[in-house]
This record gives sequence, structure tokens and C-alpha cells, in this order.
Amino acid sequence: MKKVALIWSSPNKDGLTASAKESMISGLTSDDIEITEIHLNEKKIEHCRACGNGWGTCNKTGNCVIKDDFSDIYDILIEADGIIFVSAVYWSDMTECFKAFFDRLRRCDATKNHLLADKRCIIVACAGGTGRGTLECMTQFERGLTHMGMRVYDRIPVVRFNRDYMLEALHKAGECYADALYNGFDMYY
Ligand SMILES: Cc1cc2nc3c(=O)[nH]c(=O)nc-3n(C[C@H](O)[C@H](O)[C@H](O)COP(=O)(O)O)c2cc1C
Repeated sequence: MKKVALIWSSPNKDGLTASAKESMISGLTSDDIEITEIHLNEKKIEHCRACGNGWGTCNKTGNCVIKDDFSDIYDILIEADGIIFVSAVYWSDMTECFKAFFDRLRRCDATKNHLLADKRCIIVACAGGTGRGTLECMTQFERGLTHMGMRVYDRIPVVRFNRDYMLEALHKAGECYADALYNGFDMYY
């Protein structure tokens, strides 16, 4: 059984972002894949305090000093064979909820634990406005994922104008990702 963690953020449970993650889940769903869905907007995640001299204590302990939902989610990602990040695009970036989580994830994993390194993941950015900023959002994700040594298998931009055909593509992407988790990723890096 392969485990996939799908972590997403938008305050809207029936909006563009939610539709995108549902399409991805529909493609992934099979008896051989266990999916854990994490809706960040429902979690308590404080932002990084940049404690100590700025490097925090996480670079020595691998743990964040803040006691909230962060650690449980981090554990789910560590256990996962595959990870999918789905965010609404705000200000040409990931949502503030995602940023708070992602900053702390990078701190703990990139500076000390290296437990996410080499995992293959997918980034999905959902822009419901002009569509501008979709690529910048995914670039922000990829920058942090690269710091952690993760490998981005696909980057999928969804805007309200391509919604119909991208939802179909996301279903297919889920199927392909599930297949690759079992049969290998055709990636040389
Ligand atoms: C604070 C804020 C900033 C936004 N910035 C952008 C943006 O830079 N580009 C864009 O196309 N849409 C932008 N939007 C629109 C969101 O992308 C859109 O509401 C969301 O992706 C739709 O997903 P949802 O249905 O899950 O809310 C912004 C929305 C908010 C609330």
C-alpha cells in the first residue's frame, strides 16, 4: 500500500481549489493508495518565530518549539510516499496558511531532518482572479521544495478560464502519479 498526503489550502470548501484537489483525489483513488487529506485552513498553524539568533532551535533538534498542529502534519508527510500540494493563489503566492506551514516545514526539514528529501511531489496552483501569479506561486513552492531536496514531478496551473479541461487533466495526473509511485518515476534527477 502506497501512502499519499494531499495538503491543500483555500477557505472555500467548494471553490476552484477544492474542485482541483477533488479531481486529483478521484484520479488517485484505488485499493492500492491510501490518501490522507489535510485542509490547512482548518488547522492551527502559527508562523515561524525565527527564535534564538534567527536560526531557531529546529536546526539542532529538528523540532519546532511551537505546540500546534504542525508536528502532526509533518509526521504525515514523512510517512507519505507521495505528497501533493494544492493552494489557491493569493498575491501571486501560496495562501498565508500555506506560507506559515511551509516556512516551518523548510526550517525543520532542510536544516536538520532531511526526511522529505528525494520524495516526488506535485504542485497545483489555483488562481480564480486574473490568473496572474499562478507561475510565481508555483515558483515559490518549488524554491522551498528544492531547499528540502524534494523533486517536483509536475507543476499544474489551474485558472478559472481553463477549469473544465484542467479538472480532467488533474484526474489523469492523479492516475499517472499513482502509477509512478508503484512503477517508478521516469526522472533522471
Ligand atoms: C487575498 C487574495 C489575493 C488574490 N490574489 C490573486 C492573484 O494574485 N492572482 C489571481 O489570479 N487571483 C488571485 N486571487 C483570487 C484567488 O486566486 C481565487 O479567489 C482563488 O484561487 C479561487 O479559489 P477558491 O475558489 O478556492 O477560493 C486572490 C484572492 C484573494 C482573496
